[in-house]
Amino acid sequence: MKVPPLPSDRNATGRTFDEQERAYLMQVMDSGTLICTSGTHAKAFEEDLAKVFGAKFALSCSSGSAAVHTAVAAVDPEPGDEIITTPITDMGALTAILYQGAIPIFADVDPVTLNVTPETIRARITPRTKAIIATHLFGNPCDMDGILAIAQQHDLPVIEDAAQALLAKVGDKYTGTIGNIGCFSLQQSKHITTGEGGFILVQKEELRRRMFLFINKAWPYNEPNPDHEFLAPNYRMTDLQGAVGRGQIAKLHDVVAKRQASAARFVEELADIDGLTLPKAAQGSVHAFWKMPLIIDSSKIDGGVDAVSAKLNAMGVMNAPHYVKKPAYQCRIFAERRTFGNSQFPWSYREQQDGTKIVYDDADFPGAIQGLRDVLVLNWNELYTDSHVSALISAVREACR
Ligand SMILES: Cc1ncc(COP(=O)(O)O)c(C=O)c1O
Repeated sequence: MKVPPLPSDRNATGRTFDEQERAYLMQVMDSGTLICTSGTHAKAFEEDLAKVFGAKFALSCSSGSAAVHTAVAAVDPEPGDEIITTPITDMGALTAILYQGAIPIFADVDPVTLNVTPETIRARITPRTKAIIATHLFGNPCDMDGILAIAQQHDLPVIEDAAQALLAKVGDKYTGTIGNIGCFSLQQSKHITTGEGGFILVQKEELRRRMFLFINKAWPYNEPNPDHEFLAPNYRMTDLQGAVGRGQIAKLHDVVAKRQASAARFVEELADIDGLTLPKAAQGSVHAFWKMPLIIDSSKIDGGVDAVSAKLNAMGVMNAPHYVKKPAYQCRIFAERRTFGNSQFPWSYREQQDGTKIVYDDADFPGAIQGLRDVLVLNWNELYTDSHVSALISAVREACR
């Protein structure tokens, strides 16, 4: 069988920009003010974001990577301090840690959800741990109760990376509003997009101010006696992005609801395939279905992920076998410590400080290795019709045969 082309988030087939985005964009153009410090749209977008997510404050910024960097900077680690995170994520969420002089310490993940587990986070905590990053992969929330309990015990802030999990929920709270700081991406492939872009949600004024400063070269706009207070980049989005964001945020509930409805049908209709595990949120949580990760058991489905991937490709279904392919610590940046010149900072600095050698060893990551071996990721989109979903269901059934 051949599956007809599916709506794609890479272009207009799977993205919705309408009169609303156009009207806001024209307002920015006509105003002649494209910068968010004097424009009105990025500010209005932030107000919309805070309302939609039920957060006290929202800050817009230039990317999801910038959002995570800003959150890490708000925690203000000393060089050589440790931040616990996941080995299965976008590299932008990890370079954020290194740019602040801190060392990423990887927890292991559950091999089915690929989310970090509370037990492995607990095992990685040391006196130098400064924060925990919980990344809600593919739109499925982490075990936030477990993670928050550990964080409270050790008095550590929790940064949620909800770049892939807009309007996912744990209980009655949206991911990104459960920990101390929530980070989001508005890059082209996310639930809603401004091309590039990101935002941060936070409840405490002190953290909000520090993060606002970090996004703005540490310049406290509108305060008396301003000064550049500390080292900080320019991570602002433009008012053009703010304008598009305002149009997009109004569509978010609908985007997520449509993804959830079509995903529910897909998951239900394929539930009988032996050796195929479909995504499922934990009891009391809600999945936002950024992507559709399938776990394939090679002892039951011949050839495992690679065979299924090849068959899906032959049927015209784009898919990502093994997702990011390898745990982040195997990438050259970590394996060869390629950071600032030949310094190997911050690992080398830490070794000089107290002799601690941070070693990333496959033996500590059985969950990540198994999860990446067994996962095949399908794109998901709010514009999938019933017939698209029917075709996908038939294709996956055929590929798993
Ligand atoms: C979990 C996660 N964190 C952070 C990022 C970085 O976001 P951006 O690409 O907007 O910099 C991404 C982007 O794909 C992501 O998936």
